[in-house]
Amino acid sequence: MIKGRSLIEPDNFNLEETDDLFVLAEKIETDGQYLRESCRGKLLATLFFEPSTRTRLSFEAAMLRLGGSCLGFADPGSSSAAKGESLADTVRMAASYADAIVMRSPKEGAALLASHYSPVPVINAGDGGHHHPTQTLTDLLTIRRLRGDIKNLTVGFCGDLKFGRTVHSLAKALARYEKISLIFVSPEELVIPEYIAHYLQKNNVEFRETRSLEEAMPQLDVLYMTRVQRERFFNEEDYIRLKDTYVLNKERMTLGKNNLVVLHPLPRVNEIAVEVDSDPRAAYFKQAKYGMYVRMALLASILGE
Ligand code: CP
Repeated sequence: MIKGRSLIEPDNFNLEETDDLFVLAEKIETDGQYLRESCRGKLLATLFFEPSTRTRLSFEAAMLRLGGSCLGFADPGSSSAAKGESLADTVRMAASYADAIVMRSPKEGAALLASHYSPVPVINAGDGGHHHPTQTLTDLLTIRRLRGDIKNLTVGFCGDLKFGRTVHSLAKALARYEKISLIFVSPEELVIPEYIAHYLQKNNVEFRETRSLEEAMPQLDVLYMTRVQRERFFNEEDYIRLKDTYVLNKERMTLGKNNLVVLHPLPRVNEIAVEVDSDPRAAYFKQAKYGMYVRMALLASILGE
């Protein structure tokens, strides 16, 4: 049972609890009326200290579709954080108005801190370059829907693996599934953090690193492309030098398997050419839609009757 619980890191829910969310999300997808009133009378606070399109809007859409309501801010400049209010005080306030809090922050560990001050569940919608567990639920549900199961897969992560919080969360989550092999494709400066590599080693997950997308491409069942995270760089020159290291285009897609699934948490910048969008293996827009279904399942399970 996940009722009343917070979600801060991808492994806060066990495999069975995560699987239950996917089953629920699939029911919601096929039956538009399912759980429609389960959050009637409940309020969700969305506190976004960083920009977002998908996460905030899909959470709000999810809550509204479940019969609940939302309040919050999309720009910290319009909140009292701009006057110097601490995160702890902001969270205490939001918790006294709402039944759950969804929060995004540029600071690693902010959602965990918030959960210590909040008497209502806190959902981490991204904390700096650390984790993004509801994107992981979205990614896993998409893999499950498009590949039938989450096992016996070689998954490639390409791009900014240092700062990409969606990569950290998904790699950690995949470690719990059977026969998963990971290939990390990045420039030297943007390799996967050591703490993730250690976690994978400790959990006996097969993985390797390469600089070449072309070399990795033929082996992949799932390719997870990522944007170079401009907002996390200390200087613009490094960003400009690294931002277009990997661009997935039609030519590179010819190296992939026929049943390859191409994912991207979005937003994309240049790393997937628009010409790839019409390839049936490009699943990133479908993935964003699954995000709403799985967030509906999450809110109904945490808050619903
Ligand atoms: N995938 C994701 O987190 O997108 P947003 O930044 O638009 O929320």
